[in-house]
Amino acid sequence: MDTISATGALTITPLTDHVGAEISGIDISRPQDATTVEVLNEAFNQYVALVFRDQDLTKQQQLDFAGHFGPLGVRRNAPKDIRAGKDATNGHVMLVTNIAEKIGGKEGSYGDGEMWFHADSCYYEIPNRATFLYSVELPTEGGNTRMNSMYAALQNVPSAILDRIEGRRVLQVHDHKRRERLDLDNIVVEDLRHCWQPIIVTHSKTGKRALYVNRLMSAQIEGLERAESDDILDQLFEITEQEKIFYEHEWRLGDLLMWDNHASIHMRTDFPRDQRRLLRRCTIGGDGPMSF
Ligand SMILES: [Fe+2]
Repeated sequence: MDTISATGALTITPLTDHVGAEISGIDISRPQDATTVEVLNEAFNQYVALVFRDQDLTKQQQLDFAGHFGPLGVRRNAPKDIRAGKDATNGHVMLVTNIAEKIGGKEGSYGDGEMWFHADSCYYEIPNRATFLYSVELPTEGGNTRMNSMYAALQNVPSAILDRIEGRRVLQVHDHKRRERLDLDNIVVEDLRHCWQPIIVTHSKTGKRALYVNRLMSAQIEGLERAESDDILDQLFEITEQEKIFYEHEWRLGDLLMWDNHASIHMRTDFPRDQRRLLRRCTIGGDGPMSF
């Protein structure tokens, strides 16, 4: 964790033993040269999440920076008039906020208070590889983002559980909940966005294996009786949420936090409901279906 490496003016400082590094000495609003792009991609592959402080980004600059890591993701559920709107950035940018007028303008996704651990878009056949979140308005306290390495989580799974889950798939479901377990007895999975995904994935960029479950969206393990599936999932959620494998980001204005959805899960801590919180989000897509 003490290691600090640098290239030119750019410095990479690991934030924990397992996940996260802060990149300093770089203005990410500007075009980046090929060497810098390569260094940043290597750092992203290694550290799973990257933090850039004190940035000043327009929507377009955020998208240009994200594009250095892969093809931009499209807002799959954006209202039609947003996708076809005059501002070409709108199909890629979404606001994550508790400010009602922004949501009324169809610009984003509403979220107040705590949100449980999840991996963005894991319920699609090709989940977005990375999410880029830029802070615009923040509450005076809370609303932190916790981020866990799923490479590290897999290392902590006991062999008895590994034997039961190896080669199986898990059902990922988006039920629009923020802090509540999926209730399989009272939902119709076919009516919701859902996908069977490998429960252990091989990352397309690093070749490393990562656990791919999360408390908010993982519903059931393929081929196991419901009781055993529930029991194993509960144990896996405990393993994936251990404090020793997470980085907690305390937001400041002008932060850009990016994370790898194929190798991490993240959650939002609670924050006062009467305070405004607004972050601007974009994504890059995945290379293809997730691999075992
Ligand atoms: Fe998320």
